Amino acid sequence: MANTCVVGLQWGDEGKGKIIDVLVKDFDIVARYQGGSNAGHTVVVNGEVFILHLIPSGILHAGKECVIGNGVVVDPAQLLKEIDELRARGVTVGDNLRVSDRAHVVLPYHKQLDQMAEGRKGGGKLGTTGRGIGPCYADKMARNGIRIADLYHKEHFKELLKTNLEEKNYLFTNLYGGQALSWESIFDEYCGYAERLKPFVCETVEYLNSAVAAGKRVLFEGAQGSLLDVDFGTYPFVTSSNGTACGVPSGVGVSPKALKRVLGVLKAYTTRVGSGPFPTELDNETGEHMRQRGKEFGATTGRPRRCGWFDAMAVRQSVMVNGVDDIALTKLDVLDDQPTLKLCVAYKCENGQLKAFPSALATLVKCEPVYVEMPGWMKDTSGVQTYRDLPAKARAYIRAIEEQINVPVKMISVGRDRAQIVTKR
Ligand code: IMP
Repeated sequence: MANTCVVGLQWGDEGKGKIIDVLVKDFDIVARYQGGSNAGHTVVVNGEVFILHLIPSGILHAGKECVIGNGVVVDPAQLLKEIDELRARGVTVGDNLRVSDRAHVVLPYHKQLDQMAEGRKGGGKLGTTGRGIGPCYADKMARNGIRIADLYHKEHFKELLKTNLEEKNYLFTNLYGGQALSWESIFDEYCGYAERLKPFVCETVEYLNSAVAAGKRVLFEGAQGSLLDVDFGTYPFVTSSNGTACGVPSGVGVSPKALKRVLGVLKAYTTRVGSGPFPTELDNETGEHMRQRGKEFGATTGRPRRCGWFDAMAVRQSVMVNGVDDIALTKLDVLDDQPTLKLCVAYKCENGQLKAFPSALATLVKCEPVYVEMPGWMKDTSGVQTYRDLPAKARAYIRAIEEQINVPVKMISVGRDRAQIVTKR
């Protein structure tokens, strides 16, 4: 299959992990291009649940190469924990995993800063995962970051660490009323991580470009979702990277021309974890029912996810910026017992109906969804294997989504297991 990017089109947690797991047999390499251990990609294999935060989902398949690209922010402790856990469960992690030496390192002060800054914001907090993602990317952009390659040049690493901590400790003690961190203990800890990570660390840009030139098929695994993208999401309630397909070239160092297909992953309804606007949110019994039926609790933080109706207005923007070719629709089965379904097709605002998803937060928070109602199918779809065996009303719901976003749905997931997937031809 042509080089493909699998990208979430909502606020993350669309079920990308499962879709990648289904597709991976047709690829040689799976590469992560952004985000960090804020991601939580769930894959269920023969009833066994795997949650991957940093390692691409392809690791669960023998013979596939996995790459953590330069655009990812790597928490070495988390990466090593993930490697150890996978190995303990019989998964091979060795020369099938490559970690870019250009990737930035998440350090303890990033996590502390993330948590303290959130605490200070009080009611206005973003609801981050607390994994230090924002502060690490901020340092990267401010050119204060420490990259994996730096860990292997100890004197240089020490100097960078000391300089960075001087500034961070000033903030911790003077602004946040917290404790200063010692560079010595971080230095020793991270030199230890660097030693253990050495077999995986390499120059991945050259490797990926040679692979693409040799005709190897690459699957680019997006994390978070397009509405959490730092440029195209509901800013400032977003993550700090480009989770859209726009992040692929800079996140792994291949030409945009290498990307041939963008597969968008959409949940059959909408969820969001953390703060921020969510026009179709159901803060009621229906939303609670979706949360329980869909097991909508964060794979990384365990936080309950906010649930609501499908929002075609928001998704249309995601389709546009990603240039989506086709869709994998997930968790259709969660809607099996909904007597009536609502689909948001537009937003109403003070000045009438909006033509496009608004950029301004102040506008978005005032938007009212305009719904079309559809009858639910009230039948169990979790065992359905072919499109024509889906209830007619479920097919009508899928058709309505396709018409609203003007992209064909190619795969429909009706349960957590690998086998619970319907392909629409
Ligand atoms: P951060 O990425 O930890 O800085 O969090 C910023 C926002 O993105 C918060 O609302 C998080 O809940 C959300 N977020 C980050 N990663 C994910 C994810 O993988 N799935 C869903 N939401 C996420």
